[in-house]
Amino acid sequence: MSEANSQLKERVRAFWQEHPCGTKFADAEPGSRRFYELVEEHRYTKEWHIPIAAGFANTKHLAVLEIGCGLGTDGAQFAKAGANYTGIDLTNAAVDLARRRFELFNLPGTFRVADAERLDFPDNTFDLVYSHGVLHHTPDTQAAIREIHRVLRPGGRAVVMLYHRDSYNYRINISLLRRAGVHLLRWHAGVKLVHTLTGESEESLLQHAQQLRSDKQYLGSDEFLSRNTDGAGNPLARVYSRAEARELFKDFAFVELRPYFLNKRWLPIIGPLLPRAVEAKLASRWGWHLWIYATKER
Ligand SMILES: C[S@@+](CC[C@H](N)C(=O)[O-])C[C@H]1O[C@@H](n2cnc3c(N)ncnc32)[C@H](O)[C@@H]1O
Repeated sequence: MSEANSQLKERVRAFWQEHPCGTKFADAEPGSRRFYELVEEHRYTKEWHIPIAAGFANTKHLAVLEIGCGLGTDGAQFAKAGANYTGIDLTNAAVDLARRRFELFNLPGTFRVADAERLDFPDNTFDLVYSHGVLHHTPDTQAAIREIHRVLRPGGRAVVMLYHRDSYNYRINISLLRRAGVHLLRWHAGVKLVHTLTGESEESLLQHAQQLRSDKQYLGSDEFLSRNTDGAGNPLARVYSRAEARELFKDFAFVELRPYFLNKRWLPIIGPLLPRAVEAKLASRWGWHLWIYATKER
């Protein structure tokens, strides 16, 4: 790994160690039963497509590896469905919280801290490798996908979600609306106005205002994307077009792509009024989450 990538990886690790993914959506003591219940309720209410897209119900007896297990919410669904589940994450924080979830709810599974780019599993080990919202945050995404291919059994399947370049969120929300709106954050009244218009917390907006003042690169397109997906402090996020995703998975025998997820918060006024069927239809073209289903040759 290059020196630049190894420094970036350390910043990625430090960010997720400090902000385990999804904790901010639960107003309860992290690690408590109530905490996990709230995290799960929030996740599958807002991202109601996940159980369908991930196909948890069809994983009985499969050897499943999850890369970037976070709080173990999806991991728990694999375990409940009867999969033989292993979760890894770059951070101790995620692995500890996911392991605690499995212990509290009496679910079978194993966990370890590990790097997606260098998996310590033998070749041809898993039937399914699942990774949701992780590999666009690691410096060498292609290396991680090579590792997925290596540890999958012949005929095994990768199910990976990456952020979608040709989505409403990237093309309109991040690249146009947030980019124009961020200049309002230079003034206190602007912070209040953006908070009122978008519902984004003042705390988060003030973090962006601080970045805008202190980081000369904040408005550069890569930096702006990274800072405007998973929090102002996030050091790395990327987006992929369908063609770019196909290129990443070119070693697999068969690849299918399906976009999902239109966050209604990004569609002021009309968002909450959209029936689920219309939302799903729009998301299947302009969704922010590009799900990749890739099968290894037999
Ligand atoms: C946005 S969170 C997603 C967590 C979970 N999959 C979910 O959907 O809620 C990203 C997670 O990926 C992990 N991560 C980032 N880079 C990684 C890497 N190279 N190897 C393993 N995990 C990584 C982070 O520690 C963090 O827990």
